[in-house]
Amino acid sequence: MSGLFITFEGGEGAGKSTQARLLADHLRGLGLDVDLTREPGGTPGAEALRDFLLFGGHDLSPRAEVMAHFAARADHVDRRIAPALAAGKVVICDRFSDSTEAYQGHGLGDGDPALLDMIAHLRALVPVVPDLTLVLQVPPAIAVARMAERANGRTDRYEALDTAFHARVAAGFDAIARRDATRCRRIDASAPMYAVRDDIRAVVGPYLKRAGNA
Ligand SMILES: Nc1ncnc2c1ncn2[C@@H]1O[C@H](COP(=O)(O)OP(=O)(O)OP(=O)(O)O)[C@@H](O)[C@H]1O
Ligand SMILES: [Mg+2]
Repeated sequence: MSGLFITFEGGEGAGKSTQARLLADHLRGLGLDVDLTREPGGTPGAEALRDFLLFGGHDLSPRAEVMAHFAARADHVDRRIAPALAAGKVVICDRFSDSTEAYQGHGLGDGDPALLDMIAHLRALVPVVPDLTLVLQVPPAIAVARMAERANGRTDRYEALDTAFHARVAAGFDAIARRDATRCRRIDASAPMYAVRDDIRAVVGPYLKRAGNA
């Protein structure tokens, strides 16, 4: 038995966490067994690394930062995602390897070919690949407004970076979605929440046969 692995990707404030929750609720309503998780994080060890990476105040070299994200991902995959998929569950993950490529490779590394090559090698070692990746895209002005509106308070390391960084990240996600066009679907996330939700349901629908009889 193998489940269904769906990832949400995109820049800050695009609505990933909102839409991941809405999709998880919808699929649970259809009777599917859903594990909703996030990166960096998703296991106790990976959540500790998340805290270190996002709020630790450290400035690792880009290569070290990439490896720390993949270390967190290895724990998350080995101890949570792979077992859930093996048990036939739907795993919905808020960010995954594409975020490392977009944020560290394009954002921090500014597309440095050596860094992108390292990321490509590390992602090839991850034993699970998403069946479907929803890349949520919004214009920068909307992202900024949504980030300001969001209630959770703490500003993380990446949110605090400048608009040029976020523009490189957005361009990185767009390039990834075009390159991996079979796996990735770009979603116009500038629409109201329930319109985006319906677009996502329409994309996900055909994948559900693989995860049960919904
Ligand atoms: N389609 C939408 N229209 C208007 N507001 C939205 C929409 N989707 C999400 N929001 C609001 O925008 C804010 C950011 O949404 P959310 O936290 O889901 O984004 P995110 O992509 O997970 O961001 P981050 O990358 O920083 O985690 C929240 O306050 C949320 O309620
Ligand atoms: Mg989020």
